Amino acid sequence: MKPFDYTGKTVFVAGGTSGINLGIAHAFALAGAQLVVMSRRQDKVDAAVTALKAHGGVALGFSADVRDPAATEAALKAAHARFGPIDILVSGAAGNFPAPALGLSPNAFKTVIDIDLMGTFHVLRTAVAYLRQPGACIINISAPQSYIPMAFQMHACAAKAGVDMITRVAAMEWGKSGIRVNSVAPGPIADTEGMARLSPTPELSRLVADSVPLGRFGTKQEVADACLWLASPMASYVTGVVLPVDGGCSLGGAVGLARAVSADAK
Ligand code: NAP
Ligand code: COA
Repeated sequence: MKPFDYTGKTVFVAGGTSGINLGIAHAFALAGAQLVVMSRRQDKVDAAVTALKAHGGVALGFSADVRDPAATEAALKAAHARFGPIDILVSGAAGNFPAPALGLSPNAFKTVIDIDLMGTFHVLRTAVAYLRQPGACIINISAPQSYIPMAFQMHACAAKAGVDMITRVAAMEWGKSGIRVNSVAPGPIADTEGMARLSPTPELSRLVADSVPLGRFGTKQEVADACLWLASPMASYVTGVVLPVDGGCSLGGAVGLARAVSADAK
């Protein structure tokens, strides 16, 4: 028996054509859902749809930029026309690069805000009319940058903190319509564009893994598993939360000190 059965459900993943978000799309497809993925590049959209269909699933793709509300709405409207009300909306489009605050031009800062924060606003605001009400579940993909200040990440920290506030406010406003809204905040996830950018060398990757209480990077499957649970009836009374899937990074404590003390105590 599958632990989660999404047969007949429609899942729309904004930014769903690579990395963590495509992993989430695959997990829902394997659990029986019909998938719609959207991102800027048509070649990535086509490849993602082909990969999603490889399991025998039903998948559609649209090329659109979350910075463009009209294009975003057109994709949602087309998804609704094809499949009916959307049951699960994942908003995960993001852009990031490491840069010191003083190395960020106004346009560099604005670009990340426009994709992550404004993009999330556009996706959610335009999606509501196409969601199943009651019953829909929205998952925004956040990051530890939302609650842990990180050097060289002023733009991403500001953007993801805003995303989590969108989650909380939307949960308050749309709860009575039967829409749950939550964030999932992955920690460092292996084999992703995000970590290729933020920890590009084996030495840096080791340092990052050492800073995680569980002592390792996470996997795309582990993030997807959290989403499968959050969107399921098992989480029917959960809304407005930011769920870290980060091996304990959100604790923000002195991991090295804890390891040294426990080694000493042995
Ligand atoms: P990724 O593979 O680069 O995924 C980003 C996705 O968003 C791609 O499908 C990309 O496709 C799409 N996208 C980017 N800009 C867009 C735009 N303006 N409009 C529409 N789609 C857009 O990166 P990832 O590392 O897997 O990250 C996925 C999510 O997880 C992000 O929200 C990220 O902040 C979050 N996250 C990642 C990590 C990590 O360890 N990697 C940790 C914490 C949080 P196109 O290029 O075709 O547009
Ligand atoms: N350091 C400092 N500034 C940077 C930068 C870097 N590494 N990379 C881009 N910028 C600046 C650019 O110089 C530009 O500013 P300017 O006009 O003042 O010169 C601004 O950011 C916008 O860059 P541009 O390349 O025009 O943006 P875009 O909309 O084509 O692409 C990005 C958006 C920059 C976020 C691009 O990296 C992207 O598309 N990323 C998606 C994938 C991704 O980031 N995945 C990881 C998700 S966690």
